[in-house]
Amino acid sequence: MHRILVIDDEASIRELLKDFLESKGYEVAAASDGETGLALLKDEKFDLFLLDLMMPGISGMDVLREVASEKHEIPSIVITAHASIQTAVEAMKLGAFDYITKPFNLEDIHIAVKRALDFSKLQEENFRLKKELKRKFSTHRIIGNSAPIQNVIKFIEKIADTDSTVLITGESGTGKELVAKAIHYQSSRFRNPFVPLNCAAIPKDILESELFGHEKGAFTGAVNTRIGRFEMANNGTLFLDEIGELAPALQVKLLRVLQEKEFERVGGVKTIKVDVRIIAATNRDLEKAVADGAFREDLYYRLNVIPMHLPPLRKMKEDVPLLVEHFIAEVSKRKKKEPPKISPEALNSFVDYRWPGNVRELENLMERLIILKEGDIVTLKDLPERFSDNRPMPKALTGKQTLSAEGVDLNVVLDEIENNMIIQALEMSKGVKSKAASLLGLNRTTLIEKMKKKAIEFDAKRPD
Ligand SMILES: Nc1ncnc2c1ncn2[C@@H]1O[C@H](COP(=O)(O)OP(=O)(O)OP(=O)(O)O)[C@@H](O)[C@H]1O
Ligand SMILES: [Mg+2]
Repeated sequence: MHRILVIDDEASIRELLKDFLESKGYEVAAASDGETGLALLKDEKFDLFLLDLMMPGISGMDVLREVASEKHEIPSIVITAHASIQTAVEAMKLGAFDYITKPFNLEDIHIAVKRALDFSKLQEENFRLKKELKRKFSTHRIIGNSAPIQNVIKFIEKIADTDSTVLITGESGTGKELVAKAIHYQSSRFRNPFVPLNCAAIPKDILESELFGHEKGAFTGAVNTRIGRFEMANNGTLFLDEIGELAPALQVKLLRVLQEKEFERVGGVKTIKVDVRIIAATNRDLEKAVADGAFREDLYYRLNVIPMHLPPLRKMKEDVPLLVEHFIAEVSKRKKKEPPKISPEALNSFVDYRWPGNVRELENLMERLIILKEGDIVTLKDLPERFSDNRPMPKALTGKQTLSAEGVDLNVVLDEIENNMIIQALEMSKGVKSKAASLLGLNRTTLIEKMKKKAIEFDAKRPD
């Protein structure tokens, strides 16, 4: 049952409201002045209070001020005989949810009470969901005991609650978005939006309006005014993914927003101010892009205030078993399947593998294994071919290689071996590249690239 407190110095009104609200099923307490009211609010738990503004001693406005300063977050409805827009506005500014003028109609009171209680329920729900998100994206979600990933976690905790711009770099699938969310949800902005925007996924000509919004009629097709991601992210965090793909014209515009914290919508004249924390991410080498003239140097420095580099999975080999276990458990639960066991050989091959797609590749593989598995144990033969590459080394390379006193050029030696193996594979497979690639444990495209680089020509023989 909801508890309501009525604070009014006039006994007849107190009685009237108490009787009425009790008849509607609320539990009601009453206070005859501001001081008693505040004491009750402090000591007992109420879901709402009704407050007269004009009272001797501590006025209604003082009560609101005190409640606001204590951050009770309890909704209130103000009742006043001296209705002026100004006092109402002032009361709302102090956190009152609604106001009603005397003489009032009891039905209006009932409606206002219901609205205020519904609203506060929504607010609580919203708060609960946000807390849930905070937990979900806390750094506990980032798995790994190895030094590189533990450093990342410590670093996130250190920098989350600053407003500084972060630039996250790392290969594809290393967890850049996961880290960006962890930063947001660990910061005091966590109740406000985390807005992602993938600069590479949105066509160039609409990216500007996506970022800054547009006014009605700004261009053909702009039938309505629309706010952009910067405005959506106000008081929160804007995650600019694949920032390295941003076109030069937009780089200039972004730089200005980072410097001035203001912008105009496309086709607009009004300057809009925002308070947004920026986290950018890229798997490109931005420093090189700057050197090549593809990325503005000034923008790079603006973004790179706090640089964060995420290690590739092959540098965190000791974490592979942990990640395997984590994703097996998580995906099995999600797909409502019994989690399979992994044979020691299969696990070893995971540890040895290079993981060019990093954690995402590992996650996807676990999902595939869980969906496709036949028995309850995953062995080497359940894995894609690239994991069971225990083909023998050529004889000439297995023993100890002798290095003569004058030394070698290692690159030349390796190149020679590579050429030799490629040509033999092509001969054996009669020039069928997919077959040759498979003999070498390569992708077909990798083989073709290598052949191009080495200018090896070998066409499949057409059947005569
Ligand atoms: N250390 C980690 N612990 C747990 N999950 C991780 C970790 N790193 C990455 N992941 C998971 O791997 C997947 C890929 O991560 P994410 O999308 O953040 O990568 P990314 O770096 O943004 O990749 P891309 O550059 O391809 O966009 C996600 O499902 C993410 O939750
Ligand atoms: Mg990403």
